[in-house]
Amino acid sequence: MSIFKNKSNKVEKPLEPRKKKGMNNSLGIDLGTLNTVIAKPSGDKFDLYQIPSVVAIKKEDPTAVLAVGEEAKLMLGRTPEDIVAVRPLKKGVIESKVQAKALLSKAIEIGTSNGETISRVVIGIPGDASEVEKNAAEEIAKKAGADFVLVISEGLSAAIGAGLPIAEPNGTMVIDVGAGSTDLVVISLGGITDIKTVRRGGDDIDNNIVDIVKERFHVKIGIHAAEAAKMNVGMIHCNESLENLSIEVIGKSVETNRPKKVIIDSMLIADAAEPIIKEIIDGLDEVLEKLTPELIAGIYSNTVAVGGSSRLRGLKERICDDLSIPVIVYDDPMTVVAKGAAIVAAEPRALEPEVRLKAMK
Ligand SMILES: Nc1ncnc2c1ncn2[C@@H]1O[C@H](COP(=O)(O)OP(=O)(O)OP(=O)(O)O)[C@@H](O)[C@H]1O
Ligand SMILES: [Mg+2]
Repeated sequence: MSIFKNKSNKVEKPLEPRKKKGMNNSLGIDLGTLNTVIAKPSGDKFDLYQIPSVVAIKKEDPTAVLAVGEEAKLMLGRTPEDIVAVRPLKKGVIESKVQAKALLSKAIEIGTSNGETISRVVIGIPGDASEVEKNAAEEIAKKAGADFVLVISEGLSAAIGAGLPIAEPNGTMVIDVGAGSTDLVVISLGGITDIKTVRRGGDDIDNNIVDIVKERFHVKIGIHAAEAAKMNVGMIHCNESLENLSIEVIGKSVETNRPKKVIIDSMLIADAAEPIIKEIIDGLDEVLEKLTPELIAGIYSNTVAVGGSSRLRGLKERICDDLSIPVIVYDDPMTVVAKGAAIVAAEPRALEPEVRLKAMK
């Protein structure tokens, strides 16, 4: 029996019993480009917290972090011009160590309550992160107060969090479509068999929406309005006939500088998403090319899409149209990486080969 959750989202074997006040504890953290999610094992469930991956800094001194998370987001547009809100991660990669440390410290602080000390932290980062990037994340978490830090691939973490049968020899695949990057990960025997990271995600779709609206309607819209339109009426081109929805957005006319209404429909968003989805399909094509028939059969039955952008209508249909792989979109796609990391944090031996082999019996 493994400690991993089954498909009904129940944990087969309870995680470690709830820790007493003041004792050491464990946390799983998904350090995302847009959102940082914290999962804390609590009995056989998780306490979940989410903060925007945003820090407020002084313009002339980017190391002077003034606020983190929600507080930093609230400062946006309401503060003097010398204070700006920035993201410490770009495309899933740590851009500023000082800012990332502030974000991780906040995440650890949020996950710590009642005088507990957090001893074990597992962090999910993109699968193609270099040793330097992994070491940076580890060093930052240690400086932020954790004794034991393990950095694992977001994809492996998502597979564990989604309860995929990772210990089996047949492959399973995770497609994690985030804000800045998309991880394509094939797992068998508890380890990563193949991995590819496409540095494209929901942020790129938002930017393309802004560009297309400007080109077609001569109206500039804000990036947040573009994201909101994508979330409300977004779609990916596929063979299935999905309803074409639309939403009204106010922007600034390029010609008159006056406010101007535009109607954004699902088709426009599908056009904006097309270059990104093409790169993801190409990446999947490369992954499939290298797989053995056994692994192909495994992923045919066990491929899960996670990450916020997996919510786009038509994504699973398009992958099936182009690559003949049925995809299950995980029902809670934005917390699954943190949950998987928390499972590993509670039971670090979950990743050891002998435990994997035992789990297979
Ligand atoms: N309903 C929705 N429809 C389409 N896109 C969505 C929806 N909900 C969230 N998103 C998008 O999901 C992305 C955020 O997802 P997620 O939190 O998984 O990213 P992240 O982990 O911060 O990024 P990364 O993994 O690239 O570092 C954003 O681009 C957001 O616009
Ligand atoms: Mg992510």
